[in-house]
Amino acid sequence: MMESALTARDRVGVQDFVLLENHTSEAAFIENLRKRFKENLIYTYIGSVLVSVNPYKDLEIYTKNHMERYRGVNFYEVSPHLYAVSDNSYRSMRTERKDQCILISGESGAGKTEASKKILQYYAVTCPASEHVQTIKDRLLQSNPVLEAFGNAKTLRNDNSSRFGKYMDIQFDFKGAPVGGHIINYLLEKSRVVHQNHGERNFHIFYQLIEGGEEDLLRRLGLERNPQQYQYLVKGNCPKVSSINDRSDWKVVRKALTVIGFSEDEVEELLNIIASVLHLGNVQYGGEDSGNACITSDTQIKYLARLLGVNGTVLTEALTHKKIIAKGEELMSPLNLEQASSARDALSKAVYGRTFTWLVNKINASLAYTDDSYKNWSVIGLLDIYGFEVFQNNSFEQFCINYCNEKLQQLFIELTLKSEQEEYEAEGITWEPVQYFNNKIICDLVEEKFKGIISILDEECLRPGDASDITFLEKLEDTVGGHPHFVTHKLADGKTRKVMGRDEFRLLHYAGEVNYNVNGFLDKNNDLLFRNLKEVMCMSENKILNQCFDREELTDKKRPDTAATQFKASLAKLMEILMSKEPSYIRCIKPNDSKQAGRFDEVLIRHQVKYLGLMENLRVRRAGFAYRRRYEVFLQRYKSLCPDTWPNWRGKLADGVATLVKHLGYKPEEYKLGRSKIFIRFPKTLFATEDALETRKHSLGESPQHVLLSLPTIGIQAWWRGILARRRAQRRRQAADTIRRFIKGFIYRHQERCPENEYFLDYVRYSFLMKLRRNLPKNVLDKSWPTPPAALTEASEHLRKMCMQNMVWTYCKRISPEWKHQMEQKMIASEIFKDKKDNYPQSVPKLFVSTRLNGEEINPKVLQALGTEKMKYAVPVTKYDRKGYKARPRQLLLTANCAIIVEEAKLKQRIDYKALKGVSVSSLSDGLFVLHVPSDDNKQKGDVVLQSDHVIETLTKVAICADKINNININQGSITFTVGQGKEGIIDFTPGSELLVAKAKNGHLSVTAPRLNSR
Ligand SMILES: Nc1ncnc2c1ncn2[C@@H]1O[C@H](COP(=O)(O)OP(=O)(O)OP(=O)(O)O)[C@@H](O)[C@H]1O
Ligand SMILES: [Mg+2]
Repeated sequence: MMESALTARDRVGVQDFVLLENHTSEAAFIENLRKRFKENLIYTYIGSVLVSVNPYKDLEIYTKNHMERYRGVNFYEVSPHLYAVSDNSYRSMRTERKDQCILISGESGAGKTEASKKILQYYAVTCPASEHVQTIKDRLLQSNPVLEAFGNAKTLRNDNSSRFGKYMDIQFDFKGAPVGGHIINYLLEKSRVVHQNHGERNFHIFYQLIEGGEEDLLRRLGLERNPQQYQYLVKGNCPKVSSINDRSDWKVVRKALTVIGFSEDEVEELLNIIASVLHLGNVQYGGEDSGNACITSDTQIKYLARLLGVNGTVLTEALTHKKIIAKGEELMSPLNLEQASSARDALSKAVYGRTFTWLVNKINASLAYTDDSYKNWSVIGLLDIYGFEVFQNNSFEQFCINYCNEKLQQLFIELTLKSEQEEYEAEGITWEPVQYFNNKIICDLVEEKFKGIISILDEECLRPGDASDITFLEKLEDTVGGHPHFVTHKLADGKTRKVMGRDEFRLLHYAGEVNYNVNGFLDKNNDLLFRNLKEVMCMSENKILNQCFDREELTDKKRPDTAATQFKASLAKLMEILMSKEPSYIRCIKPNDSKQAGRFDEVLIRHQVKYLGLMENLRVRRAGFAYRRRYEVFLQRYKSLCPDTWPNWRGKLADGVATLVKHLGYKPEEYKLGRSKIFIRFPKTLFATEDALETRKHSLGESPQHVLLSLPTIGIQAWWRGILARRRAQRRRQAADTIRRFIKGFIYRHQERCPENEYFLDYVRYSFLMKLRRNLPKNVLDKSWPTPPAALTEASEHLRKMCMQNMVWTYCKRISPEWKHQMEQKMIASEIFKDKKDNYPQSVPKLFVSTRLNGEEINPKVLQALGTEKMKYAVPVTKYDRKGYKARPRQLLLTANCAIIVEEAKLKQRIDYKALKGVSVSSLSDGLFVLHVPSDDNKQKGDVVLQSDHVIETLTKVAICADKINNININQGSITFTVGQGKEGIIDFTPGSELLVAKAKNGHLSVTAPRLNSR
């Protein structure tokens, strides 16, 4: 148990750095690593992060027995190991049903790839298996030698250095058996195909083929069993390496290819390509005199033509010419020597690089989980990716790699801080903010749109004119020159200048400073292959190349994304993948540069501790409390130290722990009790307790009987309680997370959409829309509408308009012609009378009728006299004599052309609408109105004073029939009218209690109109 190992702490240090008394001291940290390393204890925790130091020797700690020891056992109960991390991830995946990932980082040679292989082996051995699963397990394991043969090489730092980044998903079914896998590769170092630094080699496969390939095979490929013969293999002057046996590796790779499911044909095509690359490297150019490159010997071309299945003449031309399109015509322009060799190298790199991607796809197809019926698998991802790199001369590749590490560091900070904070919250313990360096500023410097280094590089690559690596550097100075993490020779102070070239820029990474030489940045970022070389490859009969070089690429006018942009996009994708999973970390450290066992180079290690951010990690982990354990674990271990808890505590666990620590004399500032755990602030408190336990053990005698007897039961209880508590914790975590997101979103709600507020904004939008759905207005007159959140004002307004339009439209569709007619008349009435005449409001709800007198009520003689003239409306009216204002019953008939006043069978007066000058009416509630006619018309005997009980309807009809909508005059007080022969009469209107029409003493007609409530 970890706790038991606490006792051995003086000799082998602590197995969890959080127990270091002096946790801020780097020296103490390194001393702890050293002590343990000397004892072959290469693994140490920082909380749940595993730190691993490469032993450079085989340790007996990876046996099947060891695997069994770690299987299903709690993380802290056994000494730190890769297997503990693997098992912990596996169990979390199974019990919490959450996808996991294990991030392995560290510099070249630190042991990342070894670690990832050991994890894979652990799963292959310990997970349940069926027959199908066995095949998948084999394929998963065998994918490694194949990918390593094609993607690893000997470098100065590592004899088996991975020259590509790798992320591998292992998929598990509901029984926990591995059933499939998927690999994503990142940025293969293609330049190695054509050039190697001194002491380094090309990719292993070339040497394996030459050393291990059967005579027959080599003959077919036109190869000799001597790497010295090949230009692409001699640059590093190091074809043989003592630690590598190419011949036996060849056998392993050949077998692995078969296990993965390569057919004989596919293997042959693959080897044809590998051999072709070697032949390409040997293509020699001559023609210095003319300046135009030509190929001096056609031996290689012959092999190439056969192996690639292309036309030799076409290939020769493509290797010496460049196709240019001028004025719509294609021209072949000869290349000079330098251009031709770089075209050739570009082809070799493209062919190798694309074949590598094809290989990964092929392996993926063979690992794919094909059982569609069961999609519910869980995943553990393994990330083995290049660590931070600093060389004497750093180029584009190091720039990409270090950018990648910058991103991973960001993820690491974010996730460790987050999980630490979440644990405090879940336990109900106040979180004290931790100061840490957030490297987002550096990530932004590299990747920000338009302003970041990658954007500027792309811009230089794409712009017309004389862009060069140096103009790129100048652009950088102009654009990001002021950035605190960026320096160039020109911008630097005197001291820095001394250690910087004029063609370099320096980035101040989180891990340290790196100078990048801009030479080659543009070319590497462009990664161009001449069009005619592409065309030749598209014509290849080699089936693999055929898939690698797609003809569509030739017709596609769009420029492919640059290398840096592609890399940036793939990293963004990777971050997304990792974010969706529960991470575990393995931080690998390389003890020395000479690959020697037992040598602990302090300077080198200090550097790695720094740039892996381990001290910072520890600081975060130790920010509050050094040690935390679940109540049951703590109580179980120390219960013998208190009479109240010994031999068993029967009450609540928390109370038991409280009683125990009180008895032990813990001071209040030394510990806190959370919901399910005790948190102890200082290691010394724990060590004192541990020492007390040691003493107590002696007095009790080792392992009392009853403790042993109850162990299995306790184990099961603990396990089950663990599961329950984990579930609870997860639920709490989720709830806390939601609330946190909500609060943050609320604070940021007025800002542009950003990660902080998107959840909140989405929620607010969603709830507004749902509320709206329930509360839509029911009809056109209903003007209610829920108030939208600020972010939705515009959309809400659009929706409101649309909703209204829709209601109006539905309403209109339902209207009958009669109703439409009615509405039209009501509209006109409203235009004329609304807010002007007192009895208008009363008229609104009453429907207008087509006539107030039917056929029988009108004298037949009148009807006869009308003849064909169609009657449009008839209403009984009262006519007031012009002189005595006597009231007489009359009928008013409206036809298409005139208004007629009828007395019984007589047509008393006929007023053509043309002659109708206007109509006057009062603003009060009476029904009187005057039809004005021209006074010089002798036929007419002056204006007509009438009264209708339906004055609004009557006058609306008059207005429509006579087309006099604008001639209805509404008067206040009195109306003057002509009586004939130039004389005038006056009607006075006054409000009163009831309707009264009578001749007044002044000779006027006086009308008293009842007051209505409406005005
Ligand atoms: N756990 C280990 N036990 C024994 N030897 C190890 C262990 N880990 C690493 N090594 C040795 O160190 C060498 C380098 O390790 P590895 O290839 O895993 O490094 P790496 O971190 O993947 O480096 P690179 O970034 O260059 O790929 C291995 O070939 C092996 O010899
Ligand atoms: Mg590696």
